[in-house]
Amino acid sequence: MRILGIETSCDDTAAAVVDDTGLVLSSVVSSQDSFHRKYDGIVPEIASRRHTATIIASVDEALLQAGMRIRDVDGIAVTYGPGLIGSLLVGVETAKGLAYASGKPLIPVNHLEGHVMASFLHDSGSDLQPLTGGDFPLLALIVSGGHTELVYADRWLHYRVLGTTRDDAAGETLDKFAKYLGLGYPGGPVVQKIGATGDPSYHSFPRVTFSREGYEFSFSGLKTAGINYVKSLTSEELKAHLSDIVASFESAVVGELAGKSLRAARDLSPRTLTVVGGVAANKRLRDSFARAGDVRVYFPPMKYCTDNGAMIAYAGTRRAMLDVRAAIDLDACSSLGIEDSSLNT
Ligand code: KG4
Ligand code: ZN
Repeated sequence: MRILGIETSCDDTAAAVVDDTGLVLSSVVSSQDSFHRKYDGIVPEIASRRHTATIIASVDEALLQAGMRIRDVDGIAVTYGPGLIGSLLVGVETAKGLAYASGKPLIPVNHLEGHVMASFLHDSGSDLQPLTGGDFPLLALIVSGGHTELVYADRWLHYRVLGTTRDDAAGETLDKFAKYLGLGYPGGPVVQKIGATGDPSYHSFPRVTFSREGYEFSFSGLKTAGINYVKSLTSEELKAHLSDIVASFESAVVGELAGKSLRAARDLSPRTLTVVGGVAANKRLRDSFARAGDVRVYFPPMKYCTDNGAMIAYAGTRRAMLDVRAAIDLDACSSLGIEDSSLNT
């Protein structure tokens, strides 16, 4: 089975073709970073207009690279939520049009589920050992610009949310801290670059504590503490210790993510812990998962951590195998949760 996946939930226009083993036959991602950079963040109206301009070319290119025509695919999977409503609508309407014209099944995919499914992708000729069905039960830390969630999946397409962020997402926190420092957008990669040469123990940022020891996250207090700390410095101090301050902040964010995830892994003993989403590309985060005991820890390749169509296409194959289809009046849902897409059987 070969599925075309379409992803436009945020600011990347992506299309890919993947087979039911997770082999990526093509993956095209058109980044909009250069259009949003001058605003230091994503402007939703610009995002949806750029998707409209590039979606057809992205789909054509994905089919071309896979050596296929639309008639050769077995279905069209599309992200219908969560995400920016204007952005989602471009992908959903395109997929509906393609499905209607080609007579192929339309398969609805949850963006968060897509991030988890990135753990099963592999490229031809690579010696990467992605996850397989034998890796369930699975604990997934989904950590991106818009989401921070710990999810437990005992089998394919069954999800239970253990905890989410009460306020900002981890990626958003890095983006906003970088923005305040004038380091540009997106903040995560630049924080990683500058922080790499700094001392993470230079400044100790406060840790969040909740009265109940669950798996919920909170980052807005840390973000405010970071900004207030920077405000308290002279420009000379900031200049002299920029990499130390950035490393300390990055390390506080990473510590919060790794600490809760590893505690959940100890409590629930899943077979595998997978860390997915844009922030999973972070080197310091990857290093901090070294002490996971018996649990296998997996990070998808960097290109499948950030938004892409291949993860949506593979989630589409798993849904198509269980005959999950969308009606042609499928609507986008900006606030869709991963449990909303969990199978009940
Ligand atoms: O998954 P993604 O591409 O889009 C969303 O669904 O949000 O994640 C984007 C987020 C941004 O906040 C970006 O700053 C962060 O991922 N990010 C990183 C790195 N690369 C991207 N954060 C930390 N380190 C990185 N290397
Ligand atoms: Zn994402």
